[in-house]
Amino acid sequence: MSFEKRVAIVTGAGSPRGIGRAIALTLAKRGADVVVGDMDLAGAERVAEEIRAMKRSAIAVKVDVTRQTDVAELVRTALDRFGRIDILVNNAGITQPIKVVDMTEKDWDRILAVNLKGTFLCSQAVLATMIKQGYGRIVNMSSVSAKRGGGVFGGAHYSAAKAGILGFAKALAREVAAHGITVNSVAPGLIATDIRGGLESPERQKEMSRDIPCQRIGTPEEVAATVAFLASEEAAYITGEDIDINGGSHMD
Ligand SMILES: NC(=O)c1ccc[n+]([C@@H]2O[C@H](COP(=O)([O-])OP(=O)(O)OC[C@H]3O[C@@H](n4cnc5c(N)ncnc54)[C@H](O)[C@@H]3O)[C@@H](O)[C@H]2O)c1
Repeated sequence: MSFEKRVAIVTGAGSPRGIGRAIALTLAKRGADVVVGDMDLAGAERVAEEIRAMKRSAIAVKVDVTRQTDVAELVRTALDRFGRIDILVNNAGITQPIKVVDMTEKDWDRILAVNLKGTFLCSQAVLATMIKQGYGRIVNMSSVSAKRGGGVFGGAHYSAAKAGILGFAKALAREVAAHGITVNSVAPGLIATDIRGGLESPERQKEMSRDIPCQRIGTPEEVAATVAFLASEEAAYITGEDIDINGGSHMD
């Protein structure tokens, strides 16, 4: 897989131990120029710097994916700098461990806005460019929570948002397939990042892994490898699909 001359936008890629960073680095390692988008500009700058240290081009853009004006600016900046957008990875996401009985309307709206509306806004914003190019790869970040039901780390709003992403991706995949654009999703299980409020201790990770057939938590790099495949030219005939990356904790 080569991403030479390909331009990628990865949202939520500024987290120092996050999945987005791993995706940005994996694509860059294989030749892509990368737009690192995140609400945390300092974090995004650090990741862009790591990529530039690999002698690849990268820029950091501050973006809140729930705001259409921010997203339009992200896409405009990418086009001004690189002239094309081949890959969009809708990775920005947040979770909240909370029960429905305790959930406020604000909680619901916030989780749906970042995970689901953000995916819609960013996808919509790149479509005109990808259609003009006759080429595009959109990869979305769903979750095992979408399929299995929340569990301890995400509430029902998170499951709903991540399941919504799967339906959105399939419908969009049908709309744009004739333009050479594929739309796919990945559904990670437990991955070692800071999304649950900081990395768990090795003891806690062991405890969390008890019911996972692979007996361990996944790494951001393992998610990134699958995202890179779906973002590659070689995956041209895969669209509307979702791939589980969960060590066997959920099989469908
Ligand atoms: N870590 C896991 O176990 C796991 C499992 C399944 C799915 N996921 C999904 O993977 C994705 C990445 O999560 P992670 O574990 O790397 O988390 P993380 O918290 O390390 O990174 C998330 C990043 O998204 C950014 N972000 C949050 N809200 C944003 C917004 N409105 N606009 C732009 N950026 C925003 C944050 O600043 C952060 O840099 C998320 O969509 C998450 O739901 C994670």
